[in-house]
Amino acid sequence: LHRWLDIGAVEAFSEDEPVAVEAGGMQIAIFRLEDQLFALHDLCTHGVARLSEGYVEEGCVECPLHQGLFDIRTGAAKCAPVTEAVRSFPVRIQEGRVQVAVE
Ligand code: FES
Repeated sequence: LHRWLDIGAVEAFSEDEPVAVEAGGMQIAIFRLEDQLFALHDLCTHGVARLSEGYVEEGCVECPLHQGLFDIRTGAAKCAPVTEAVRSFPVRIQEGRVQVAVE
């Protein structure tokens, strides 16, 4: 069973820019792709870089440090130098509020 944590209003998340939030002591990057929101651990699996500061293109986020690519929907590593998926978390929208489950 998920423990859902509120991270803000839906309007706070745009398609243009990922948003960094903290929930349950975890740093999380929230991405919007069309009408859907996705949550990834806000730490690259290759080094110390925040994916919320990355560049979003075609459903992927590019790490700002060495340009590794992750699939925003799944966290899967898509291109070198990243080889390990980044953790992804369930997200849901309830009455205009965004909630994420980090456990
Ligand atoms: Fe992200 Fe190297 S720290 S690709």
